Amino acid sequence: MHNLARWKIRSVKPYVPGKPIEELTRELGIKGEIIKLASNENPLGPSPKAMEMVSRYIKELNLYPDDSAYSLTKKIAEMNGLSTDEVILGNGSVEIMQMIDLAFVNPGESIVTSEKSFSLYKIIGDIVGARVIETPMKDGKIDLNLILEDIKEDTKVVFIDNPTNPMGTLCPKDEVEDFMKRVPEDVIVVWDEAYYEYARGEHFKETIDYVKQGRNVIVLRTFSKVYGLAGLRLGYAFAKKEIIDALGRTRLPFNVNTMAQIAAYYALEDTEHVRKSVEMNSKGLEYLYEEFSKMNLKFYKSWGNFILVDLGINSDKPYNFLLKKGIIVRPVKNYSLPTCLRITVGTPSQNQKLVEGLKEFLEHGYS
Ligand SMILES: Cc1ncc(COP(=O)(O)O)c(C=O)c1O
Repeated sequence: MHNLARWKIRSVKPYVPGKPIEELTRELGIKGEIIKLASNENPLGPSPKAMEMVSRYIKELNLYPDDSAYSLTKKIAEMNGLSTDEVILGNGSVEIMQMIDLAFVNPGESIVTSEKSFSLYKIIGDIVGARVIETPMKDGKIDLNLILEDIKEDTKVVFIDNPTNPMGTLCPKDEVEDFMKRVPEDVIVVWDEAYYEYARGEHFKETIDYVKQGRNVIVLRTFSKVYGLAGLRLGYAFAKKEIIDALGRTRLPFNVNTMAQIAAYYALEDTEHVRKSVEMNSKGLEYLYEEFSKMNLKFYKSWGNFILVDLGINSDKPYNFLLKKGIIVRPVKNYSLPTCLRITVGTPSQNQKLVEGLKEFLEHGYS
């Protein structure tokens, strides 16, 4: 049968997710604990409060969700000093990325992003038939000056993940400010802040300020990372009313399910869970920096809940070695990083097992 897919679709390279625990159990028949450090999930799990409320509402699953997600949208808006028409929710922030391209990018027009940024910017751009311009990084960091140079007449949207995945590096505040002074007004700048809660602080530019100033900016956030709700799929965006209105026109009804709405509402109230998660993550990062340094491994200082480590050899071997030990990490060949692994920061005991596994590999695993 000849290929019936739209010609643009034929060349789309599908997203490569982290290996699910169940798949590893099936493939290798591993008994005992499997540690997944492959998808930047919160190893502490969801907020206990959120879990309790989800179980309370489970009997309402016969009903459609509230399409407007009224209570959650209001809560997010209030917590961030915005009005409800400046907030939109998505089935994961990836759905909002798709809404952005559908709402603003005509086929053939361009999108600019960084070559090693989150892979879905390119994938979704390809799906909608955009021309995706990928700007090289500099020393493992997004080069905002090069992004400015790559913006063309037909550029509609720029996607910047800050911190960036998989490198984990940050565009510092002064660079973001300089970029925002120089970027053309009619280009929509998307600041994807999936790791916001880990990165916020003196070096981080609060890009929500640009939304409040009426700039053409979209800020993406998610409940998949620090809030530990990746399985429920819920992301959100801030932007001015006109932008949110355009995004809303591309949104399918009931895109955010009832359990996600409830869990997120209560997760937002559980500030202690967020605090604990962020604290555990920074201690975990310090531990991994120290251990990787002792092993003479190259790594980037991370502003997220993961770390990119360079083993200097084809990553297949260490990846498979760790899999056999029940540790799932993420190879990043699809980002042209063939010798690197991206590792999510786990609990202290998970981090320790990971380090032991890597040490063992470096001592005996090459053969
Ligand atoms: C930079 C970045 N943006 C967005 C996402 C996806 O978020 P969500 O689960 O909300 O779709 C990820 C997931 O790893 C990410 O690294």
